[in-house]
Amino acid sequence: MTAAINPNPPASLDPKLQQFFQLLTEAFQSSQLVRLVVSKYQGADPELQRLVIRPVLLKNEMQLSFLTQNRTFDLTHNYTLPDALLFLQQELGLNFLSAHLQTSSQELQLSFSKKGKVLLSKHQLKPATTQENAVVDLTHNKAKQRFVEQSRPYLQALGITDTKGDIIPSMSKKWKQINKFIEVLAKAVQQTGLAQTQQLHVADFGSGKAYLTFAVFDYLTTTLGLQAKVTGVELRQPLVDLCNEAAIRLQLNGLQFEQGDVKHFKARGINVMIALHACDIATDYAIEMGIRTGAEIIMCSPCCHKELRPQLQSPAVLSPLLVHGIHLGQEAEMLTDGLRALLLEAHGYDTQVFEFISLEHTSKNKMILAQKRKKPIDNTAVLKQIAELKAFYGIKQHTLETLLAQSTTAAD
Ligand SMILES: C[S@@+](CC[C@H](N)C(=O)[O-])C[C@H]1O[C@@H](n2cnc3c(N)ncnc32)[C@H](O)[C@@H]1O
Repeated sequence: MTAAINPNPPASLDPKLQQFFQLLTEAFQSSQLVRLVVSKYQGADPELQRLVIRPVLLKNEMQLSFLTQNRTFDLTHNYTLPDALLFLQQELGLNFLSAHLQTSSQELQLSFSKKGKVLLSKHQLKPATTQENAVVDLTHNKAKQRFVEQSRPYLQALGITDTKGDIIPSMSKKWKQINKFIEVLAKAVQQTGLAQTQQLHVADFGSGKAYLTFAVFDYLTTTLGLQAKVTGVELRQPLVDLCNEAAIRLQLNGLQFEQGDVKHFKARGINVMIALHACDIATDYAIEMGIRTGAEIIMCSPCCHKELRPQLQSPAVLSPLLVHGIHLGQEAEMLTDGLRALLLEAHGYDTQVFEFISLEHTSKNKMILAQKRKKPIDNTAVLKQIAELKAFYGIKQHTLETLLAQSTTAAD
């Protein structure tokens, strides 16, 4: 970026671009600017990906902090408003084809079609919602670790916030769950290097009412500025229709829902496989599909562990404990998810099993997070552990293992 002074947009600029720059200037000057994300980079620099621009107060002067996100590193520079405007006027539409402007009262999405047509859409935030954003922290340019912003329009469309932008009390647990889930996803996306990819495909199996699916799409496209395709797969057609209607209404291009059974769903080229509370062995089908398509991240929060419970054989010494149904259920759950984690390890994934949200918010609080290893490792020891556990508990059938064996045979 070169320094130059030009606070006013040139008269030859497209009217929509003029409007965009005017609103950016006004937001900056009235301390209402929250953030500008400039993305869809088309230029010659193989490293450069996107810019995240925020106001910053430096030695009593307001400037704009440009976080330049490159493939392998980030850089921050601060610029005066005229310098920043000149740079953006030169770059938008040429090297960057998308800009998302967030102020404390509205959001603007600026895009350029392949033929160079300028598209500008505006979304006015509700007054109550704006209060949250009204005080823009200008004291430093460190990005806030807020993963989901309460003002996002999809939250209202899905009934998590009301018309004033407040969280609907009955949805507060779901709201906390979504935030935690996005926090976990955000770390995994950074660690696997997916934050640096140009195109990302996410599949969410058993998407239901799709709170999470919308949040994932919004995080990847708006917060990270990535080009993401997110597909929710759901058995129930009415939910699919409802979610597609909401995605179209909110102009979320790239977010779509398909009616289907995860057991028969054919998927290819998935980078992130998600299954949040997909019932019983639907989780196994989803994990197997994630492994088979080579997903870099597999995230699931299993529920209804029915398959292993009737098969369990435990040593007689445990019978006074397992006479209580709840303990038998807990044992079946531990074994089911433990075997899932080991099978993921054996198929090239570093895997963690942890409580992702406190029990107070949901009883379905276990997360299996698997991140694909860069290099394969010898899996002999893990396979032995799986065989020993199955023999100990007398397990004859574990769906994930069966599916993986079938897909390995089919690939041979
Ligand atoms: C408990 S809900 C979870 C919804 C969503 N993932 C969430 O956490 O908010 C599980 C959803 O999975 C869907 N489902 C169950 N089995 C499925 C299958 N085999 N294929 C696709 N969807 C399935 C159900 O219809 C339901 O909407």
